[in-house]
Amino acid sequence: MTTQAEGHLLTRIGPGTPMGKFMREYWIPAVLSSELTANGPPVRLMLLGEQLIAFRDSKGHVGVLDHRCPHRGASLFFGRNDKDGLRCAYHGWKFDFAGNCLDMPNVPKHQAFSHRVAAKAYPTAERYGLIWTYMGERKEPPPLPVFESVMIADDSERNLFMVQRQCSYLQALEGDIDTSHLGFLHMGGVEAEDTEPGHLGRYALSNRAPEYHVADTDWGTMYSAYRPGAPGEIYWRFAHFMFPFWTIPPDGAFRDHVVARAWVPMDDNHTMFVHAAWKKNAPGLRKMKDGSPIPGMGPVLPHMYRPNDAGWFGRWRLKANKDNDYLMDRDQQMHNSYTGIEGVHVQDQAITESMGPIVDHGLENLAISDLMISRTRRRMLRAMQAHGEGIVPPGVDNPETYQGARGGDFASSASLDWLRAYSDEMRVSKNPTGALRIAAE
Ligand code: FES
Ligand SMILES: [Fe+2]
Repeated sequence: MTTQAEGHLLTRIGPGTPMGKFMREYWIPAVLSSELTANGPPVRLMLLGEQLIAFRDSKGHVGVLDHRCPHRGASLFFGRNDKDGLRCAYHGWKFDFAGNCLDMPNVPKHQAFSHRVAAKAYPTAERYGLIWTYMGERKEPPPLPVFESVMIADDSERNLFMVQRQCSYLQALEGDIDTSHLGFLHMGGVEAEDTEPGHLGRYALSNRAPEYHVADTDWGTMYSAYRPGAPGEIYWRFAHFMFPFWTIPPDGAFRDHVVARAWVPMDDNHTMFVHAAWKKNAPGLRKMKDGSPIPGMGPVLPHMYRPNDAGWFGRWRLKANKDNDYLMDRDQQMHNSYTGIEGVHVQDQAITESMGPIVDHGLENLAISDLMISRTRRRMLRAMQAHGEGIVPPGVDNPETYQGARGGDFASSASLDWLRAYSDEMRVSKNPTGALRIAAE
């Protein structure tokens, strides 16, 4: 179980909190490259409880600055993007992407002190469609993480998008390491025999109460949910938590299921989900016998967004949201899908937001199906406490460790131990995208 005090420690991520300090050791995926145009409008960016401004200068450099101008605190959101920097709209002071003050035009030249004032700026890095920022204390940031799915250079092979969720990152993330909800929230309305013949994912429907193996790993935690498969075989579904807020879910064929999903805290009550995947991976079970989508599981992207606006929480919101009960259709729920809500992501969104901004951990009654969740919370708490005692968090200085993590399903001989089955399958599943070789060149 998780006490309320532990839940509090895990979910408070603002400046100065233990989890906030822990997460600031890592690079954070912040903005899509496509959101910032050279010399274009600055974007309000909420990250780890801090109000920031992201902009791209005329040379393409990306700045992530505290939104408050260091002169007298006016918001740089109203600033003019002026070639090599952002000019505050109040008195015209100008700051470059690194926060250096370039100009103080309202002060006589001989009394200006540009060299002694700077906007608070966080280092950024841009790679393959994604802009990262480092909000920690090191002068030299650590290396960028090396998830295969964020290393795919070819735009046409990369599936990269964000969705905002209105709840704590923790309960949002826990949806990805909670395999048993698949047979209810997403597929509770169908029987195994009505779905695509021969698809391994059918086993997850013919037995909706799997057993579990769970372990700590160098990169976080992992589990396998398992059930009998064909005679003499076990059907495995592997998934991972990776520090500090990443997951690899099990819903796809293990050998080419190249995906990493970040649950980035915007503040304690809002999360930006970042999905990075290889487009050529084989999807999980999605079809009925006749080839039509499983009810409720049809594709809803990219039509699911409301237009972005310029507010602190104005980016990547869904049309289906809590104000319209996620466009739930009770008739569909009665006769077809389990929820009457269309789209796997929207179903997850609805149910985790329905728990409130931060679920009261004191109310929970965890079952064996929550073994991965309780293990992950404990692993996070311990790593966070060790960090308080000076230990560098896992993966910060050794991001190649994440390459040991792959999620997905497969079947193997029932005589194999779960970790042996995993390592055997990993051996034949390395780098299907080719992206890691490209990166090494
Ligand atoms: S407050 Fe920004 S220039 Fe004065
Ligand atoms: Fe889900």
